[in-house]
Amino acid sequence: MRLDTDPYLPRYASRVRGMAASEIRALFAVASRPEIVSFAGGMPAVEALDLAEIEAVAAAVIRDHGAIALQYGGGQGRIELREQLVQVMAAEGVPAHADELIVTVGGQQALELIAKCFLDPGDVVIAEGPTYVGGIGAMASHQADVRHVPMDADGMQVELLPALLDELAAEGKVVKYVYTVPNHQNPAGVSLSIARRHQLVALAEERDLLIVEDNPYGLLDFQGHTNPSLKELCPSRVIYASTMSKTFAPGARIGWIAAPAPVRDKLVLLREAADLCPSNLTQMIVERWLEQTSWLDQVKRFREVYSERAETMLRALEAHAPAGVTWTTPTGGFYIWVSLPEGLDSSDLLAKAITHRVAYVPGSGFFADGSGRSMLRLCYSFPKPERIVEGVERLCALLTSELELTHAVLGTPEPS
Ligand SMILES: Cc1ncc(COP(=O)(O)O)c(C=O)c1O
Repeated sequence: MRLDTDPYLPRYASRVRGMAASEIRALFAVASRPEIVSFAGGMPAVEALDLAEIEAVAAAVIRDHGAIALQYGGGQGRIELREQLVQVMAAEGVPAHADELIVTVGGQQALELIAKCFLDPGDVVIAEGPTYVGGIGAMASHQADVRHVPMDADGMQVELLPALLDELAAEGKVVKYVYTVPNHQNPAGVSLSIARRHQLVALAEERDLLIVEDNPYGLLDFQGHTNPSLKELCPSRVIYASTMSKTFAPGARIGWIAAPAPVRDKLVLLREAADLCPSNLTQMIVERWLEQTSWLDQVKRFREVYSERAETMLRALEAHAPAGVTWTTPTGGFYIWVSLPEGLDSSDLLAKAITHRVAYVPGSGFFADGSGRSMLRLCYSFPKPERIVEGVERLCALLTSELELTHAVLGTPEPS
């Protein structure tokens, strides 16, 4: 058996054949070393949780309902949890009914099930450019053709959508849905403006589009503001997905989808084929946590932590970034999106950054076509403020020296 090729290759399904771990992924294994300040993973500050409270909730679940908690459950998820999740949505003003909801294994399974439900190979999904890397992964695993719409400080540039739709129609392409993260987007850290939300749903009506609204960060606005959801504006055309990963804990793996009844029924069948049912144990823990604790106070605590960390990162960038580097200013969520001056490539620089003991995600991961190499994502949610300052100083020192090198080689003047 040859070791340099995969002997199973001829047997793989076509959707798997092209899949390969990127070199960047290998670098991330190194990035988790303690001496490296990692701005890479979108990890919540779970240390801000009240572990004693969660311990009490978990113990009560086992004590009071152990035999149910440790048994199989239904494919749609527990009605008691779905009722609580409706309250989570209500905290953001998103109207929903427990019947519409399907509990998923995190927000990621929600995106995967939606992709599986709608996408045949070659079908088009329109997404923001950049967009969530796991969203691209879910769609790519069903061989979708992901087309991007550029973003600015107000989110997806919806006014560019009609021309893209015309172009796709001329190519004979079927657009199955528009995938959007309207609040505190991953990775761009910006939100879709209210005017554009209205424009998007009006366009969906006019051009018969389905929208997948992915909303993990809506409750994490630093000021506690909320935006009208697309689901609220146009319920029949929106499939809504969210997760407790950022407002409670990703280890619980509790996410959900709210979908119109016919779609919900298909999704439940697909989920049963994938994993039968979500874990009763973690469903019951989250359900009790929502029911019995003042969970909105916890969300407020998270908001304060992230707001301080975002502020710290912005101040450090302001103080240390070389001329020509620009970035977005988040009003919530986890991320800052950085654009580099010409000549710098964030994928090429990652290995050097790791030697400088700092990590980020290169921009190319957030575009289906691998573009975006002059951009990168910084996540401020996990490192403590003093580590954020250290990491930004290291990154900016690297960018400064690389820029000096580029200007010396090209003989170009440095931007002032
Ligand atoms: C936009 C977006 N959607 C979905 C997910 C997946 O959430 P989960 O960790 O609950 O699977 C994430 C996680 O970072 C995300 O940022």
